[in-house]
Amino acid sequence: MKKLLALLLTLTMVFALSACGGSQEEEAPPAEEGGETVEESSGGNLVGVAMPTKDLQRWNQDGENMKAQLEAAGYTVDLQYAANDIPTQVSQIENMIANGCEVLVIASIDGEALGTALDQAKAEGIPVIAYDRLIMNSDAVSYYATFDNWNVGVKQGEYIVEALDLANAGDKTYNIEYITGDPGDNNINFFFDGAISVLQPYIDAGTLVCPSGQTEKQTVATANWATDAAQARFENILASYYTDGTQLDVVLASNDSTALGVANALASSYTGNYPILTGQDCDVANVKNILAGTQSMSVFKDTRDLAAKTVEMVDALMKGSEPPVNDTETYDNGTGIIPSYLCEPVVCTTENYQELLVDSGYYTEADLAS
Ligand code: BGC
Repeated sequence: MKKLLALLLTLTMVFALSACGGSQEEEAPPAEEGGETVEESSGGNLVGVAMPTKDLQRWNQDGENMKAQLEAAGYTVDLQYAANDIPTQVSQIENMIANGCEVLVIASIDGEALGTALDQAKAEGIPVIAYDRLIMNSDAVSYYATFDNWNVGVKQGEYIVEALDLANAGDKTYNIEYITGDPGDNNINFFFDGAISVLQPYIDAGTLVCPSGQTEKQTVATANWATDAAQARFENILASYYTDGTQLDVVLASNDSTALGVANALASSYTGNYPILTGQDCDVANVKNILAGTQSMSVFKDTRDLAAKTVEMVDALMKGSEPPVNDTETYDNGTGIIPSYLCEPVVCTTENYQELLVDSGYYTEADLAS
């Protein structure tokens, strides 16, 4: 009933606005980021899916996978992308609520910034599933569907330890640089700290040395996970600390968009032995780099699995049953532990990409052709 009233109120406001010449366009997301338009309330089966941006490959896949699977399960989907703009994401979520959505699935741009929209969802009794990124400091969040983010970092760290055979390094030292993602994304705490938990003994022993001295998570963060910013920072590092024949042995990059920036910087400004370079997501450009030898590994997170798990959660919420969770300890969003389902990440290299990515139908051979 409350929802019906809210809908009526919104419609009245919309008509009132257009009657006095108010422009709807100002509020609309940029055209290329706009999702499907939901014309009217869908009679109780509308799911709002808010994605951060179309700029990065993975969110397009996440959004499309979820939409397809939700529709196959009989739901109507309002899928929106927000061009990495927080006010746009807030207004998209408000519109989803006004349109009568029953469940919200949100991959936030900034996990701290959705306050008012979430309060509204809570007031309307709409469950919120945080998708991939945890929404922080809001008691409106009901569930969290993600990958085991700590394990993503651990796998990157373990890859480095093995590739450099750090356990048998003796007196040998290796130069390492770090890069992670957006400081407003809670995931960086898991990716970066998970990797460092594995590397720490070798950092303490002096086996891993960081010539730039840029080792703090906040210092090595990258706004919006942007490839350009990653490239610019590494061009700077290479020009400042690696000009006198100093070798760069390894770069811990938390994901593929930042690894791509590092690879671009290496291509333009580095002539030493190519370093080990980690990543995450198996974006097409990065898999191509792995095949070309300019990235060492990525961590594959099959977005089809995450979408499927999220659809199960939505379906359970719609039907009044218990959504699947497999972790009730790890993810405290500041208001308490959020029951979570963690999917398993898998290391991808030249050794297993065929089976993992092509045979599984995630990509075709043609997608990966250079
Ligand atoms: C996701 C990563 C992704 C990054 C940038 C993170 O929250 O977990 O898979 O690479 O955002 O989009």
